[in-house]
Amino acid sequence: MRLILLGAPGSGKGTQASRLKDHLQVPHISTGDLLRAEVAAGSELGIAAKEVMARGELVSDEILLGMLKSRLSRDDCKDGFILDGYPRNVAQANALDALLASIQQPLEAAVQLEVPTELLVERIAGRAKAEGRADDSPESVRTRLKVYNEQTAPVVDFYRNHGNLTVVNGVGELDEVFTRIIEAIDTAASVG
Ligand code: AP5
Repeated sequence: MRLILLGAPGSGKGTQASRLKDHLQVPHISTGDLLRAEVAAGSELGIAAKEVMARGELVSDEILLGMLKSRLSRDDCKDGFILDGYPRNVAQANALDALLASIQQPLEAAVQLEVPTELLVERIAGRAKAEGRADDSPESVRTRLKVYNEQTAPVVDFYRNHGNLTVVNGVGELDEVFTRIIEAIDTAASVG
């Protein structure tokens, strides 16, 4: 299964993707996690990305595409993948389309987790207390939500227009949301 999980910051993409990878037996590729690993390692890429991420802005398309190409070329992606955090703007969506076409691995489903803004803010505030992620400060969260609305929301329309989008209610217990996503994927697989 080649799947994209879309949704605003705090909508549950990472949480659900880590469950889905066991169910679908494909890797969970989170561009946020890949970037955080570079920051932690103090690599050149990590140094370039650190401040941009802390502000809640997007890291350059060029850096992301290079990182993604290298990750998708690994053996564990031969039977599919779950992408979490990419694409984040229409340029990235077009780049991903071209990349997947070039390796003859077209996307099978795009699922958007829908969660009201107040709940997103509440969830991220909870995580800020528990984990202290650098970009979970109120100021950075405001920027992340603005970036999502301005740059990532059009990506949802991109997949809607390509006919492979399913919108899933992301509010509820983790198991409930998980079941909704599985149903959406099963439907997409039977149609596509
Ligand atoms: P990234 O790591 O992708 O962050 P994000 O999209 O802001 O997503 P979050 O991790 O905040 O939310 P999530 O939807 O994964 O929710 P989660 O499951 O964690 O990106 C970080 C930064 O990296 C970006 O701002 C950018 O700078 C850079 N970046 C990454 N990709 C990029 C790209 N493609 N291009 C350019 N720059 C890029 O859940 C959140 C919280 O809610 C958790 O505490 C969780 O336990 C809780 N929760 C989840 N589900 C539920 C539920 N059903 N009920 C109650 N609580 C729940």
